[in-house]
Formats: sequence, structure tokens, C-alpha cells
Amino acid sequence: MGLKQIDHSSKEYDQMVTLRFEIMRKPLGLTFAPEELAKEKDDILIASFDDDEILGCCILSDMKNGCVRLRQMAVQKNMQGKGIGESMMMFAETLARDKGFKTMTMHARDTAIGFYEKFGYKVKGAEFTEINIPHHIMEKRLL
Ligand SMILES: CC(C)(COP(=O)(O)OP(=O)(O)OC[C@H]1O[C@@H](n2cnc3c(N)ncnc32)[C@H](O)[C@@H]1OP(=O)(O)O)[C@@H](O)C(=O)NCCC(=O)NCCS
Repeated sequence: MGLKQIDHSSKEYDQMVTLRFEIMRKPLGLTFAPEELAKEKDDILIASFDDDEILGCCILSDMKNGCVRLRQMAVQKNMQGKGIGESMMMFAETLARDKGFKTMTMHARDTAIGFYEKFGYKVKGAEFTEINIPHHIMEKRLL
């Protein structure tokens, strides 16, 4: 298994979008708008691969003023619970620190709050609805 940064509009990016669709959108009856994906060309795209097979992914978006937002964290269904999410969090945090970001934030699905808490993220503010499901903002200082 290996973690790497991938390029927008590459074969790996297509695999990433397919994974995100299967894990995060299809169960909610939702898709990705082309404009939503086009905006990701300036993001940091991270994926975990086993040879040519994508196992997991996440995205870092620059929110300016030293803050970076983690988005689209997803692990292939049959590979969940094996530490892939944890390894992507470590990789994403190291990359974010190296790039000088001071704070990491995310819109966490309520079902994933316990996962982010494992890495020291704290809920900030009230529940809100995004893509029709409850979320909370979570945040951590990257020391
Ligand atoms: C949430 C997700 C990314 C976690 O990845 P994963 O590879 O399954 O997680 P890991 O195996 O690395 O787990 C790391 C730790 O977090 C815990 N954990 C994993 N998912 C959790 C969850 N949803 N709630 C609470 N704890 C969780 C694990 O038990 C493990 O704890 P341990 O170290 O004490 O054993 C993955 O389950 C997933 O893709 N879920 C569906 C999509 C999703 O909800 N994404 C997040 C959107 S905000």
C-alpha cells in the first residue's frame, strides 16, 4: 500500500472520483456536478493505492489565512477499519504542516466525528445540514 499526491484530470483522479461516488454520494442518491470537480484543480489530492487499485482518498483545500480544509475522506467499503483512514490523516497532516498551514478543519459527517476525534479534532459550533445529512465543523491546530 502506498500514499501519494495525484494530479487533477489524471487516470488516478478518475479512480478517486469513482471511489468518492460509490462511498459518499451514491448511498445518498447524489452525484458530482462537473463544476464541483473542476474547482478541485487547485486542491491537494491524496490517494492510497495497492498497485493500480485505489483504496482510499482525501482532499486538502486552501481556505487562506493558514487554514486548510480536509474534504472527501473515503475508504473502499471492504477495506474500512484496517487503518487506511488513519494513514491518510497522518499523510494529510504532515503535508499540510510542510506547506505551512496552521489549522486543519473539516465538515464532518456526524457518523465520522468519532474518527476525527481519534486524531484530536474538536467539534466547533452547532450541527448543520450538508448534502441532506447532519454535519459538524471540526478543527485542530497543526503544531
Ligand atoms: C471514516 C473512514 C474514512 C475511516 O477510515 P478507516 O480506514 O475505516 O478508519 P481506520 O481503520 O484508519 O480507523 C482509525 C480509528 O478510527 C476508528 N474509526 C473509524 N471509523 C470510525 C467512525 N466512523 N466513527 C468512530 N470511530 C471510527 C477506528 O475504530 C480506529 O480506531 P482505533 O485506532 O482505536 O482502532 C471510513 O470508514 C469511510 O470511508 N467511511 C465512509 C465515508 C465517510 O463517512 N467519510 C467521512 C466523511 S466526513
